[in-house]
Amino acid sequence: MTNAVSATEAAPTTTYLKDYQKPDFLIEKTELTFNLYENFTAVTSNLTMVRAEGVEADKPLVLNGVDLVLESLAIDGTDLNQGAYEVGQETLTIKNVPSRFQLSCETRIEPQNNTSLEGLYKSRHMFCTQCEAEGFRKITYYLDRPDVLSEFTTTIIADKHSYPVLLSNGNLIKKGELNGVRHYATWHDPFKKPSYLFALVAGELVSVDDTFTTMSGRTIEIKLYVEEKDLDKCEHALVSLKKAMKWDEDVYGREYDLDIFMIVAVDDFNMGAMENKGLNIFNTSCVLANPEITTDAGFQRVEAVVAHEYFHNWSGNRVTCRDWFQLSLKEGFTVFRDAEFSADMGSRTVKRVEDVGVMRTLQFAEDAGPMSHPVRPASYMEISNFYTLTVYEKGAEVVRMIHTLLGKEDFRKGSDIYFSRHDGEAATIEDFVSAMEEGSGKDLSQFMHWYSQAGTPSVSVSDNYDADKHTYTLTFKQSVPSTPEATSDQKKPFQIPIALGLLGDEGEIPLVVEEQSQNSSRLVDSVLAITQPEQSVTFTQVNEKPVPVMLKNFSAPVKLEYSYSRADLLRIMAVENDGFCRWDASQQLALGVINDCIEKLQQGHSLEAADCDASLIEGYKAILANKDLDLAMVALMLQLPSQAYIAEQFDVIDVDAIYQARKFIGNQIAERLYHELLDSYKHLNSDESYSFNAQAVAKRSLKNTALHYLMKIDNEEVRKQCLAQYSAQNNMTDVSSALRNIVSSPSEALKEIKQQTLAAFYQKWQNEPLVVNLWLSIQATCDLPGTLDEVIKLTKSPVFDLQNPNKVRSLIGAFASQNSINFHIKTGEGYQFLSDQIIKLNLKNPQIAARLITPLTKWKRYDSDRQKLIKQQLERIKAEPKLSKDVFEVVDKSLSV
Ligand code: BES
Ligand code: ZN
Repeated sequence: MTNAVSATEAAPTTTYLKDYQKPDFLIEKTELTFNLYENFTAVTSNLTMVRAEGVEADKPLVLNGVDLVLESLAIDGTDLNQGAYEVGQETLTIKNVPSRFQLSCETRIEPQNNTSLEGLYKSRHMFCTQCEAEGFRKITYYLDRPDVLSEFTTTIIADKHSYPVLLSNGNLIKKGELNGVRHYATWHDPFKKPSYLFALVAGELVSVDDTFTTMSGRTIEIKLYVEEKDLDKCEHALVSLKKAMKWDEDVYGREYDLDIFMIVAVDDFNMGAMENKGLNIFNTSCVLANPEITTDAGFQRVEAVVAHEYFHNWSGNRVTCRDWFQLSLKEGFTVFRDAEFSADMGSRTVKRVEDVGVMRTLQFAEDAGPMSHPVRPASYMEISNFYTLTVYEKGAEVVRMIHTLLGKEDFRKGSDIYFSRHDGEAATIEDFVSAMEEGSGKDLSQFMHWYSQAGTPSVSVSDNYDADKHTYTLTFKQSVPSTPEATSDQKKPFQIPIALGLLGDEGEIPLVVEEQSQNSSRLVDSVLAITQPEQSVTFTQVNEKPVPVMLKNFSAPVKLEYSYSRADLLRIMAVENDGFCRWDASQQLALGVINDCIEKLQQGHSLEAADCDASLIEGYKAILANKDLDLAMVALMLQLPSQAYIAEQFDVIDVDAIYQARKFIGNQIAERLYHELLDSYKHLNSDESYSFNAQAVAKRSLKNTALHYLMKIDNEEVRKQCLAQYSAQNNMTDVSSALRNIVSSPSEALKEIKQQTLAAFYQKWQNEPLVVNLWLSIQATCDLPGTLDEVIKLTKSPVFDLQNPNKVRSLIGAFASQNSINFHIKTGEGYQFLSDQIIKLNLKNPQIAARLITPLTKWKRYDSDRQKLIKQQLERIKAEPKLSKDVFEVVDKSLSV
């Protein structure tokens, strides 16, 4: 492994945004030939290269290459002698090259031994590639950087029986037999692209075919390639793709460009999916679906990922990134686009609430930890470590804020300018924001701080009602914590859009801003864009003290601090129009009650029924009884804040108290609303056949939320309902939810049934890896004592496979990130277990190994005993004789805070 560093060697080098330089050479044409064999692959490349304008004639050509065996090298048909070039650890340098030349190069690689799943590798019997971000250099020597765009022609040669299907980007231009045993196919992609968008697939695959007619009347051929056994799981992805194609035409006015769009499903994949031009490659978990094996969440995930990768065709492929620091240019924008798509396809509020949940728990935690970085990082050691919640989710929130500040029409104008001005180019975040400024005539210079400053801003709000003058004043103070790249006082104030409203007795109070405050605090469509460290706005003609409703639709990724009374929260829950704020009020209400319980536990008291404030029970009761509310909203509002969200409210996370308090409140709700919940469950429980639409999803969501509460009560009736739901085997949403409840139930009465059910479930689904993954994660997230031992047992069973990222995520990842009470077991065995796995994966699959470290990076947030135990494990990992760059960067940064 050439990209491994030993602990005693110097740290891997850091790459800085400020050092960016344009490429010295361009690659006009790229011709590749792959000869695939079982024990090696021969790659031939023919590159038409030109020295970039203004570059001195004596500058050498430096190509990237990792783990390659160089077989031959020629310029304009003449072989280079040994002295003419130099092969480094990760480079090939050719000292003298003409200003225009043909570079021919032959290399050998071993995809069958490539466990990193980066570059060309084998997933089961299939050859496939993953080149983003820097995987192409593991295939051949190249200028492997996103600002070098080239026209690719690719020939694949392989055994025709084992690999009947040979695919690459663009259009098939030639194919044929070679010697009776082998065959070939040549693909040509007319659109210039960087190497990270290159793809190749060879395997025994079948396709499900469809067509889409674009708004200009062109017919696009769609092909979804899968293994034969998965033919019955393709329809949903195809439907989703066509919806996405239509949506991008309707909302952005952009249609697909090639005549063919292909998707391939592979089992071994580090990420969810990849947007390779014309040939998307998908993790099976993000493309295969049917009601029998897939939950509602799974269906939603497939729809969103298919759309996301399709949308990249414009935001990423046609307009790509100049360098990897600009990653959020394509990812943040595309996540924003896919979120809006999902909102339009299903329930807008539900989608928003889910995304805010991810922001406020996972992203805020990342932003407060040792890996904190701006949406556009200033430096990195290993770029794979920067495919983060900050670049993706916060990046999408930043684009959303631009959308909020500009309004829909001007945002569209800006995006049109961006796409047409930079089509076929590699662009920067400045290019994007400039286009938005031009489209709207608005100045976004202060707004740019969102891209360069890390940390979650806090906005604390105080208010004052003047009953005589009928005025109401809100004062906002913003601050942002110190993060690794800058201290708090070095940071500049953000421009923060705060969408707000005032609730009076008779509903919304019209917002009239006092004339004096209009200069600094102008309101556009109920959005106040604050720009100062401290800023006030005064409203006139306010005839009663209102309840302020702020950050509607989560208009900015900030922590808003304002002390609401429980009565205020109940009022917002009952009457506010903004679905997000309504849900958030229910969260804040529950959070307040849980926090009181945590405090009491920390003082050594035990909890009693009275500690679960009646206001919460009454609030929940009202939600259950509210016939106007959409069922999906009811389900969301009834769910207690997650342990991760509760934890985010504390500087020191008290794992045990958070767990106990939340569990206690859950039990109280179940007991005190037993009849309401049971009625609701029975009312919604039907044997109608599965369909995937917002209403049906909402029904199942509320039904299973009710069941989850009910199963906290150990009684015959509830157990019967749950077992019946399991036995009905109607769809995987209901089955897995019943199974989860059975597995996590402490009831003695279910002890035996639990083991039988788990065994029967496995028996039934053992040949469906995606269902087996669900089975693993249900066991891994069980909060009963003893789960760690079960998880360790499972990692040793033949069901588990450390080389398969989906298995790792379902078992180890789920345990470490979603089972805090067991992962943080006081003995430290949870930390040790995780570290064992990280060490095993370190050189095998560095990307997955590095991602697994995340729960350990937050060590400073726990009590001193746990801090010590986690730190020991980080140090143990760091002391490994050879560390991958990926793991080194995360461990080193975690230990240096
Ligand atoms: N370009 C990424 C996939 C990727 C990232 C591959 C890093 C290799 C390294 C793709 O567009 C993506 O973002 N996929 C997401 C899913 C999406 C819905 C956010 C993923 O794979 O998780
Ligand atoms: Zn993406």
